[in-house]
Amino acid sequence: RSAGGVDFYELTERAAEAEVLPGLRTPIWGYGGTFPGPTIQAERGRRTVVKLINQLGEPTVLHLHGGHTPPESDGYPTDLVAPGAAREYVFPMEQRAATLWYHDHRMDYTGPQVWRGLAGMFLVRDEPERALPLPDGERDVPLLICDRSFAADGTMLYPGLENRPGVREAYMGGVLGDVILVNGAPWPELRVARARYRLRLCNASNARVYELTTGGPMVRIGSDGGLLAAPRTVKQVRLAPGERAEVIVDFAAYKLGQHVELRNLAGEGAQGKVLRFVVDRDEADDSAVPPRLAVVEALDPAKATVTRDFDFSSGSMHGGVGWLINGRPFDPKRMEARPKLGDIEVWRLTSDVAHPVHLHLDAFQVLSVNGERPDGPPEWKDTVELRDAQTVEIVTRFTDYRGRYVLHCHNLEHEDMAMMAGFEVV
Ligand code: C2O
Ligand code: CU
Ligand code: CU
Repeated sequence: RSAGGVDFYELTERAAEAEVLPGLRTPIWGYGGTFPGPTIQAERGRRTVVKLINQLGEPTVLHLHGGHTPPESDGYPTDLVAPGAAREYVFPMEQRAATLWYHDHRMDYTGPQVWRGLAGMFLVRDEPERALPLPDGERDVPLLICDRSFAADGTMLYPGLENRPGVREAYMGGVLGDVILVNGAPWPELRVARARYRLRLCNASNARVYELTTGGPMVRIGSDGGLLAAPRTVKQVRLAPGERAEVIVDFAAYKLGQHVELRNLAGEGAQGKVLRFVVDRDEADDSAVPPRLAVVEALDPAKATVTRDFDFSSGSMHGGVGWLINGRPFDPKRMEARPKLGDIEVWRLTSDVAHPVHLHLDAFQVLSVNGERPDGPPEWKDTVELRDAQTVEIVTRFTDYRGRYVLHCHNLEHEDMAMMAGFEVV
């Protein structure tokens, strides 16, 4: 619904059944009763209000991942919406066009609640992007990718992560599924014309990292925070949990009747199979990929007021491995940093093992990985994969809103095991 400069959505969280695997009924928790939830379309500068109605038997929290959102609507992990309650989340949308997603963010339970289905995509558009000749309409395709495991009757399997000997240890790396789903379906078929398509890839998995390829060239045009300055031809796209990438695939390079498979090189067997495109028709295509896509301001680290360290190295907790930040588990009342509104800061992320690190409120740019500048001009990110024994420096600027936010590992089991830190913009 749209009125008076506001786009209004109602999302009712409820238990439902979905046919995920052919002929079987899978109980899910869904926004609007579907898995994934509806794709929300927003316009830059136009307020989007989402009324969340919780008809589940458990508390929930809504978070817009990648949203530049005031703190009361950002879904702080303890801002619970109780069963039977409702709450309006206000998203001002003062941000660039980008592929975002929304998901549950309840403290200690994000992993199981997202696994059951509480995730959906959220697209922000704006005028500068609309002025580009990129593929649009039905050739602009959001693809929410996540893995799940199922019992023989179609029920989703999520192991309990309670502190029983053996169980917690077995899932210290996070929960992986054995089937890859795209928009809630395993190995789906998408019929395409011999034309360019814009694919908005979103890794909504709890813990799985993908290396996606069609086997042919893809042109990467976007990152977590929207369009890149210029397109880049790539053979594959690596996505850690929480990350997004936008690519253009030109199916005119293929023959009528040809099948083009989107595969995951980081997985074997069923975990390597993502999606099949079937090139089934000729159609006019007036789209193009312009050599300049957007103006991407480079944040200047020389203007940073402070460099802060966030160490994601494994620690010990409850006599086992603990997923901690700076040696401490998440305490929603303790603020690990108090950046000043308007300041530019450099945050240095270190770890012994890999973690996808996600920052709320403001997008950032990667300055260096193990001391080396990443190649290519800066791009806007909100999640960065910190790989084994890496040091990644990011630069960000805290804008518009004062209040409490979080920084956390987006491996959802790690997040639930308290690998999260609060910060307050003052
Ligand atoms: Cu996608 Cu704090 O989350
Ligand atoms: Cu987020
Ligand atoms: Cu982690």
